[in-house]
Amino acid sequence: MFKPSVWLLFISFIVSTYGFGFRGFHYENPRELEEINSTSRHIILEKWILQPLNHFDVRDNRLWSMRYYESDEFYNGTGPILIMLGGEWTISRGFLRSGLMFDIGKAHGAMMYYTEHRYYGKSRPVRNTKPENLQFLNVDQALADIAYFIEKKKFELDKFNQSVIVFGGSYSGNMAAWSRLKYPHLIQGALASSAPIHAKADFFEYYEVVSDLLRKYDEQCRNDVKSAIDTVELLLSHNYGAKVLQKSFNLCDTPNISDTSDIGWIMNSIAEVNLKRKNCYYYLFINL
Ligand SMILES: *[C@@H]1O[C@H](CO)[C@@H](O)[C@H](O)[C@H]1NC(C)=O
Ligand SMILES: *[C@@H]1O[C@H](CO)[C@@H](O)[C@H](O)[C@H]1NC(C)=O
Ligand SMILES: *[C@@H]1O[C@H](CO)[C@@H](O)[C@H](O)[C@H]1NC(C)=O
Ligand SMILES: *[C@@H]1O[C@H](CO)[C@@H](O)[C@H](O)[C@H]1NC(C)=O
Repeated sequence: MFKPSVWLLFISFIVSTYGFGFRGFHYENPRELEEINSTSRHIILEKWILQPLNHFDVRDNRLWSMRYYESDEFYNGTGPILIMLGGEWTISRGFLRSGLMFDIGKAHGAMMYYTEHRYYGKSRPVRNTKPENLQFLNVDQALADIAYFIEKKKFELDKFNQSVIVFGGSYSGNMAAWSRLKYPHLIQGALASSAPIHAKADFFEYYEVVSDLLRKYDEQCRNDVKSAIDTVELLLSHNYGAKVLQKSFNLCDTPNISDTSDIGWIMNSIAEVNLKRKNCYYYLFINL
């Protein structure tokens, strides 16, 4: 089934327009357009806003600093407020320099923000991630951060009737949709891009799309990727194979084939090779 030879997989990943997608275990930025082509030279400010640690307990008055980026490049005093919602990653200025929200902001004289999700990037409400410190990391608190942010900004801009439109992709796409449902008095519209609002443990459809795209690129490429993945799965079915994999991938430990999260981690790492290389093409060398 697997050949004792050196495998070279040449994988081409076609990244969706805005670079969102399931990011599994890798907490990376969504691919922003900043580095590819930034048309804007406007100064984008990095700012901080004090947020309650717990929005749902009035007796808890602890605060923390949430980071956000702000661009008034197109703001004309009456345009809407557009907010790109950060998800499980570190924010950067890209979405305030180009992309769909940027284009809409330009067309409508909008004020633009990009908020960072609590516990990610520099927006750390707690000193460390001990279990007891993770209790405030949940989507209800994160949505309340957005609502609080909007109230403060409307007050600061002295524009209480301004329309607010939120944008997000992947998990933050869910946040966009949910925040509009939960705070309709504050948010007039939401754009939820690739938002997986239907939670599904075995979400095989995601890789069907990837497989279809690979096939479109090159049928042989898709077949090679499939046989490589099949081989890894086969190796992970017995202890000897796991040792072979450890050697091939230079892993610190032998994968524990009885541990589903160990297996999940490995398969996910292979499926989501993170590339910052040119043109979204990447190489995966497997020595088997
Ligand atoms: C970047 O901008 C240049 C000049 O405007 C254009 O020719 C090029 O196609 C753009 N590249 C991308 C990836 O958008
Ligand atoms: C701001 O821009 C929007 C969209 O172009 C326009 O409808 C509005 O009148 C502008 N307001 C001012 C004060 O120029
Ligand atoms: C906001 O809109 C309401 C209803 O349209 C209006 O009565 C009020 O004066 C407006 N407030 C401001 C600050 O423009
Ligand atoms: C492998 O995983 C199983 C199931 O989680 C666990 O019971 C076992 O102790 C693990 N073995 C090693 C060597 O860690």
